[in-house]
Formats: sequence, structure tokens, C-alpha cells
Amino acid sequence: MSYQQILIIDFGGQYNQLIARRVRECGVYCEIMPYKKANLEEIKRRSPSGIIFTGGPNSVYLETSPHIDPGVFDLGIPVLGICYGAQLMAYTLGGKVATAPKSEYGKTVTDFNAARSVLFKNLPQNAVTWMSHTDYISEPPAGFEITSHTPVCPVAAMENHQKKLYAVQFHPEVNHTENGTEMIKSFLVNACGCRCDWSMGSYAETAIKDIREKVGDKRVLLALSGGVDSSVLAALLSKAIGGQLTAIFVDHGFMRKNEGDEVEEAFKDWDINFVRVNAKDRFLARLDGISDPETKRKRIGEEFIKVFEEEAGKIGKVDFLAQGTIYPDIIESGAGDAAVIKSHHNVGGLPDHVDFKEIIEPLRLLFKDEVRALGTALGLPEKLVWRPPFPGPGLAIRIIGEITEQKLEILRDADAIFREELEKSGVARGINQYFAVLTNMRSVGVMGDGRTYDYTLALRAVTTTDFMTADFAEIPYPILSKCAARIVGEVQGINRVVYDVTTKPPATIEWE
Ligand code: XMP
Repeated sequence: MSYQQILIIDFGGQYNQLIARRVRECGVYCEIMPYKKANLEEIKRRSPSGIIFTGGPNSVYLETSPHIDPGVFDLGIPVLGICYGAQLMAYTLGGKVATAPKSEYGKTVTDFNAARSVLFKNLPQNAVTWMSHTDYISEPPAGFEITSHTPVCPVAAMENHQKKLYAVQFHPEVNHTENGTEMIKSFLVNACGCRCDWSMGSYAETAIKDIREKVGDKRVLLALSGGVDSSVLAALLSKAIGGQLTAIFVDHGFMRKNEGDEVEEAFKDWDINFVRVNAKDRFLARLDGISDPETKRKRIGEEFIKVFEEEAGKIGKVDFLAQGTIYPDIIESGAGDAAVIKSHHNVGGLPDHVDFKEIIEPLRLLFKDEVRALGTALGLPEKLVWRPPFPGPGLAIRIIGEITEQKLEILRDADAIFREELEKSGVARGINQYFAVLTNMRSVGVMGDGRTYDYTLALRAVTTTDFMTADFAEIPYPILSKCAARIVGEVQGINRVVYDVTTKPPATIEWE
């Protein structure tokens, strides 16, 4: 690959992916690497145009804190340290880091010496930055100039122009920092000499060439779920190798209303072998009497692999299995391991009994919004490209308790009404995921002159950037009211609708 690259060394900060997003938005390719792997050999091997140190939760002067080989500052590669990364640069090069007299957290008015700075060149003399620190640089190392300060922080930024070393105590990657992206861009262009030519069009071209070279005249197999990642992958492979690709779409019967047909429709004119397997009855049989969420996930995963393997067996030997892995799936963090709350396997885990030589993952370097941009560049329909995330096990984990065909029918209809109303009113655009959940609870209602004893439907809509934390969406009451009225009126089996107003944490986005 011939792209210029920025290496982001991860010290466990919470905004690391955001740093990577910003760098890529500036048109420069970058990768995140845990600090433990960032030895000089590895850095030299990658020969990045620049290095960024991320923030992190530690104090540099503790022995147990992450450190870096001082040799990194002698490679002649420009380095930008952010927050902990800034303190680490100061500490490693002989400056002083101490506990600040007062922690700075949040929006902070900051002064800049734009005339003496590469990062802040042509930017205003003061602006708001986003701070989040208890330690600070109290004295810069020799050779550095102070280029920014706040009332609390004597060194909010420092630069060593001769060695191309730059450090900022605040977070330029966060939206609350005014001109933050310009500062990052200035580092990329003026310090690192980046050309800013990374775009989805150029990515597609290179990826298609690489796939052709690797695959030659061999055959590729893909599990197509109809989600954004596998759909964009199918489109990319189709452009690269056309009919050498067989895409198997296992319809497990837990898709939303009309979704199975929409997937088929989207791919019918593409140059690929598209196979749809209608396996609803098999999946329902495997879930008969099951109400535990993790057992549901496990059985769906197992059945999926079985169906996929059977279909794959029909087409004989393939050489490559394509997977829609994307960058957030493979980023290793610089800090500890997180607890597993749900076994979020995507339907389409790795089959054991398909005879293939190698896995190819052409999207593995892309963030989600880049995958969407690629999908658009390749000509996929907007509806598919902008589809909100949908869990692999589908509606099976949105029906609390046992799954029946009748409950699936009820949920599909109610969910379709909810989505239609949100989309029609325009509020859907500001919401990251929205869906209905069929609870396992029935209650008394009155319809016409008669008593009903039907299910309660829960509506869920959240705003989030990373799906790790989420807020419930503040949908205007009249819209919620219309949804409730339509659902109760049009879907038999529901007589009560509630709206979930819990954040994540402590709840999760899905109910199971
Ligand atoms: P939770 O419910 O854990 O969900 O807050 C976070 C995001 O993950 C999706 N999700 C899943 N995706 N298989 C998937 O492919 C799963 O089993 C699964 N469970 C949850 C969820 O829709 C949300 O976007």
C-alpha cells in the first residue's frame, strides 16, 4: 500500500478512535497501535509520516505507567503528544510533570501564541479547548517553546520546531475544542508533510486492484447478512472479481418487515452469484422453548454456521472466504480488557467445515462511516448504506422470552410502524438506533366495549457515537403518541405501548 501513514500510539485514552477519525477526515490514513507494541523496530518498519501519542488515565511519574523508548524522538519523525501523551513527551525529554493545583475538566478558555507555533498558525489568539487532566507539564524540556497556556496550566502546548515535536495538554480531537481539526491538520500538513489524498474513491481503486491480484481466477465465498458491512463488501468484491464471488444470504426469519426481499432486490442486478436460503423453519425449531438470551444467541450462531456450511458444500471448493471485519473490530486498546456483557457475535462466525484456503478482509482498515462512504462510491442504494445497526440474531433478541411465529409477526408490524413514523417525521436522522421490543408481559386493556389481555410493546430509540454508552432519544410526545395510537390500532395482539427512557449504562441498547 502506498498511502502516507500516521501512527497513533495508544496509551489507553478514551478518545483514541476519535483521533483516528479526525486524521482520516483530514485525508490521511492512520492506524492505532497499543503502546506495548510500539517498539522502535516496529515504528521504523512502518515508517510513518508522523506519530501521535494519545491520552491515558495514568500519571507519567508512576513506575507502573506506560512509557515509551526515548529513541522515538530521535527518528526524525514528527510527534504530537496529546494530554497524557504530552506529559509523557515532557517527562521523557527531561521536563517536569506535576499534579496541577486544580484539575481542569471541560471547556477551558486557552491562550495561544499563534505567531510562534506550527499547530496554531493562523488561528485566533484565544479559544475554547477541551481539557481533562489532573497532572500538567510544569516545566517544558530544553529546546521547547511554550505556545499556549490557561490560568491553571502554564504549558497547555509546547513545540520544539527543530526536532518537530509538539504537545498539547487539551484534546484537539474533541468537537468542543474550537479549531481542533485545523490544529491536527496543521500537524499533518505543516509538520509531517502529508498530502491529504486518502479518500474512498482512491481506496476503492487500490482495494479492487489488491483483491484482483490476490484472488486471481479463484473463487470467493461470502456470508451476506444484508447489513452495511457485508453488503459493501459484496459490492466491492463484485467490482473486483464479479462472478467469481458467491454471496450466501441466510435468511433466518428474524429480519425486519420486508428486509429479506430488500436484500435480494439490492443485489439482483450485481455481477455475483447471489444465493438466498430461506431457513426460517430450521431456526424456529432450534429456538423452540428457549427464552434465555445467551442460549438464543448461541443456537442462532450454531444454526447459521450449519446452514452456511451446507450451502457452501453445494458449490464445492472455494479458495477464499471474505469477511466484513471493520477497523473498530480489530483495534486493540493500549489499556486493560473490558468485561463481556453480551456475546455480540455477528451472525456469520467462522465456519469449521468449509474448505477454503484463506480469509480476505478488504474492509479491515475502515471505520464505519468510511464503509458507508465506500458503499455510496460503489453505487449501493442509500437505504442499504445508511441502514442503522441491526443485531445479527435480529428480532429473536427483541422478543423477550420464547419466540413464536405469531410474536414475530406482531413485532415486525409494530416495528415497521415505529420506524415509518420516525422516518416520516424527520426525527430518525438524529437517532442512531431505533426499534421495537415485544415484552413478555400482558396486561388488561379496553377496546371498543370489550376487555383485552394483550402484549406490551416497548419502543427504544437511542443517540450514541460508539454504542458503548447511549442516551435515550428525546422524541417529541406527539410523535410517540401517534406511534402508540397506530400500533395499538393496527397491530393485533398489542394493547399497550411504553417508551424506554433508560441510558446505557446502566441498561443496554437491546433488551436482551
Ligand atoms: P447493547 O445491547 O449491548 O448493544 O447495548 C450495543 C450494539 O450492539 C448490537 N448488538 C448486537 N449485534 N449481535 C450483533 O451483531 C448481537 O448479538 C448483538 N447484541 C447487541 C446492538 O444492536 C447495538 O447496536
